[in-house]
Amino acid sequence: MPADTTATPQPGDPGEAEDRARLESVTSLAKRRGFVFQSSEIYGGLNAVWDYGPLGVRLRRNVRDSWWRRVVDLREDVEGLECSILMNPQVWVASGHVDTFADPLVDCLGACHMRWRADQLASDRCPNCGGPLSPPRQFNLMFRTFVGPVEDASATVYLRPETAQGMFVNFRNVLQTSRQRLPFGIAQIGRSFRNEISPGNFIFRCREFEQMEMEWFCAPGEDEEWFRYWCDDQREWIRQLGVRDANLRMRPHTPQELAHYARAATDIEYRFPFGWGELEGIARRGDYDLRRHQEVSGKDLTYPDPATGGHTLPVVVEPAVSLERLVITLLLDAYQEEEVRGERRVVLRLAPQVAPYQVAVLPLSKRPELVEPARRLAADLRRQLATDYDETQSIGRRYRRQDEIGTPLCVTLDFDTLSDGAATIRGRDTMDQVRVGLERIGDACRDRLTGASVGGV
Ligand code: GAP
Repeated sequence: MPADTTATPQPGDPGEAEDRARLESVTSLAKRRGFVFQSSEIYGGLNAVWDYGPLGVRLRRNVRDSWWRRVVDLREDVEGLECSILMNPQVWVASGHVDTFADPLVDCLGACHMRWRADQLASDRCPNCGGPLSPPRQFNLMFRTFVGPVEDASATVYLRPETAQGMFVNFRNVLQTSRQRLPFGIAQIGRSFRNEISPGNFIFRCREFEQMEMEWFCAPGEDEEWFRYWCDDQREWIRQLGVRDANLRMRPHTPQELAHYARAATDIEYRFPFGWGELEGIARRGDYDLRRHQEVSGKDLTYPDPATGGHTLPVVVEPAVSLERLVITLLLDAYQEEEVRGERRVVLRLAPQVAPYQVAVLPLSKRPELVEPARRLAADLRRQLATDYDETQSIGRRYRRQDEIGTPLCVTLDFDTLSDGAATIRGRDTMDQVRVGLERIGDACRDRLTGASVGGV
């Protein structure tokens, strides 16, 4: 399987202790504010499986929608697909996952009996207790279950470890029903499962995660150029989500670390607190998958070439990323602590298009003469912008909460509103305040949010 390495911190990286503290602060904010919860927490959780709370759901949906819009909706050459998580087990024989989707596993033979991925260890002693390690054995990462009431080998099926195979086994169906011609893509967003040996770093490496993958089918010989195109396209998309370009780099795979299906691959890496790590992978898969499915299924998966009258197997370029890696990246990249008038302020500088809420409406007091127009304004704004409404606690605490969850704009109604028919718009990043008539609040927020996608708010 492709080495999912995280490099050691580089010279010039922030200090290790500072990095750890940053990861802990983001993890704790994510829990405290309702972005990410441990799965089945009241029972002690389940390692490397996570749930998403009210704000996490909004953030994920924004990222998912942005990817789908860019990769599918705004193009005429990409079709969408939704496949089942359970597939005929032959799919995974043909794809090579049954034989090769494995990591080398070693057991501690000393005091702690912990298990490790051999390729991630710096020495041949246990990193936890210093004990000796067993020789490595290959551990297949696919989760297994059974179809029907009999639990034997003939009923074994797998939870898919990638969404990609759904696109290959449906290649003929999509080709026949969509009128697409080469080059074209098939895209899918859905859950994948891997029984990772050493998961961790919050949601960086999970056992259940949501992939966004696109298989781009093109004529043999054209894939190198398309590979460069999709590398550039995806880096630009991540930049547009608000991730600072200085924290991104492209890292081509060495021949030794290439996955069994890949001719070449490049990772878009992010500078995580635990070192540079893979955010998204772009691979040239050649005709490996279609050829294997053709061989094992016996079905013709070639493409009729109108130019020559012959048949060819298209070659494939694949951008693949998970929502989990994007969410951890966006949270880490946006998280800032600063001092304002002698007080510590935590602010998530999320871009408006991914922020859970774009605007929050806050009446200064709970008196009905302020609450009524504030609720009316919130209901009106909600039709165009993701709008929160909050009338609890002091205004200072409410601003701090909105800063911490990344809301770019707050609109405050105070007692002057009753006489001047206006409210105050406060920017999250600049903390500036402007007075705007209630009837113009919607337009003013929209203008400011649109301008903010290229600057701060
Ligand atoms: N179809 C190709 C494929 O699945 P991959 O490099 O193994 O390739 C693609 O995975 C992307 O899926 C990665 O770049 C990463 O964003 C995400 N990913 C992989 N394993 C993950 C895990 N255990 N937890 C969260 N995201 C993961």
